[in-house]
Amino acid sequence: MSPVGSAVGAGGRGTGTVLVRGGTVVDPGGPPAGRRADVLVEDGRIVAVTDGLEVPPGALVLDAGGCLVGPGLVDLHTHLRQPGGEAAETVATGARAAALGGYTAVVAMPNTTPAIDTASVARDVLALGRPATCQVAVAGAITVGRAGERLAPLGELAAIGVRLFTDDGRGVQDGGLMRRALEYGRDLGVVLAEHCEDEALAAGGAMHEGAWSSRLGIAGQPSLAEEAMAARDIGLARLTGARLHLLHLSTAASLALVAAAKAEGLPVTCEVTPHHLSLTDAEVASFDARFRVNPPLRAADDVAAARRACTDGVVDALATDHAPHPVEAKEAPFEEAPPGMLGLETALSVAFSVLCRGDGPTLSPAALFGLCAARPAAIAGLDADGQGGPLQPGAVAHLCVFDPDETWTVSGAESASRSRNTPYEGRTLTGRVRHTLYRGEVVVRDARAQR
Ligand code: DOR
Repeated sequence: MSPVGSAVGAGGRGTGTVLVRGGTVVDPGGPPAGRRADVLVEDGRIVAVTDGLEVPPGALVLDAGGCLVGPGLVDLHTHLRQPGGEAAETVATGARAAALGGYTAVVAMPNTTPAIDTASVARDVLALGRPATCQVAVAGAITVGRAGERLAPLGELAAIGVRLFTDDGRGVQDGGLMRRALEYGRDLGVVLAEHCEDEALAAGGAMHEGAWSSRLGIAGQPSLAEEAMAARDIGLARLTGARLHLLHLSTAASLALVAAAKAEGLPVTCEVTPHHLSLTDAEVASFDARFRVNPPLRAADDVAAARRACTDGVVDALATDHAPHPVEAKEAPFEEAPPGMLGLETALSVAFSVLCRGDGPTLSPAALFGLCAARPAAIAGLDADGQGGPLQPGAVAHLCVFDPDETWTVSGAESASRSRNTPYEGRTLTGRVRHTLYRGEVVVRDARAQR
């Protein structure tokens, strides 16, 4: 039996003993730079976090030398495409990409075909997620078919454990309907998550409206398309007292609105994506559809503001918006290609480079794990499943072991995703996930998926 096999029980979950040795343990709330400690895992749970642990007989030893050992990451925003979009991704392939990126939980977005707008579709996706290499939670649609006309059965979905609702891919255009959704959401104790895009303002825009869109002759969507809906929904959160989460914010003014909402004490959280922290609209000059995404890549000032919002505590979570599309679809001319980028396998590398090693204000490793694991776990209610840390005896062993100095070259063809549309194709990134443990099972070892 292979050493990994010995650590994996018959049920496909960790039932053996694994020693993660020689790393620096980073816990949100712990010392900012972390502390030297080995982590011992038995039967799917952490049993010790101490420096210089003896190797128990029969244990699988994972080398974490030079690595940060943090809680498994939690993605609030993953498109797994099942049902209906299997040409682009499946729950199994998306979960494998997630594990390679250090994620032990993802929230699957409901813009599938059919949409996840009933308990029966949600149950199907949850069932597909059960044998996967990370935990798969689902977000329910806010409106039937995401058509923006009638509310989906939020109560029925909440009753089977759905904690987050969104029409992502689209915003809820009708403010009155969104108000009702927030009122129901408040009473059900769930989170309403908005894709902020006023479709009348954004109409026809394939990129950010600004100097680059004028130069390239591509119709742009103004920042106001995002900001107007963010402002409306923050007002609705004030009116209703409901929990509101704003997805993939990308402009300086949207983030300023969230900062003001938080200062006022409103129950509003937000996320940004690694691509909005690392790429600008200048990339579109290549006319390469891998750079088409919604919200679009923004101007350099917005990117700087998004980074500042991470270090200033305005941003609650980093989320990938992993959005696979078939190769043929992304080979279309820029304005005809569907928006979306792969994100799961590159997120932590990109985020670590720009937020922990960037030229501006930097985040500590512990704070980065807060944004990538602890906070998103709390927002999605996945902390109840042991996601997000802290790493302590008794906790479920969801671990991400990240080597901040490893360099690697991104290749869509080598991705575990069914799709190839990474915006970092051919780029060399610094920092790579070395091992991932999901419920004690070693699902990634030495940057290779184990199943
Ligand atoms: O670029 C995007 N792609 N933005 C979204 O909001 C949806 C996503 C998708 O589903 O492809």
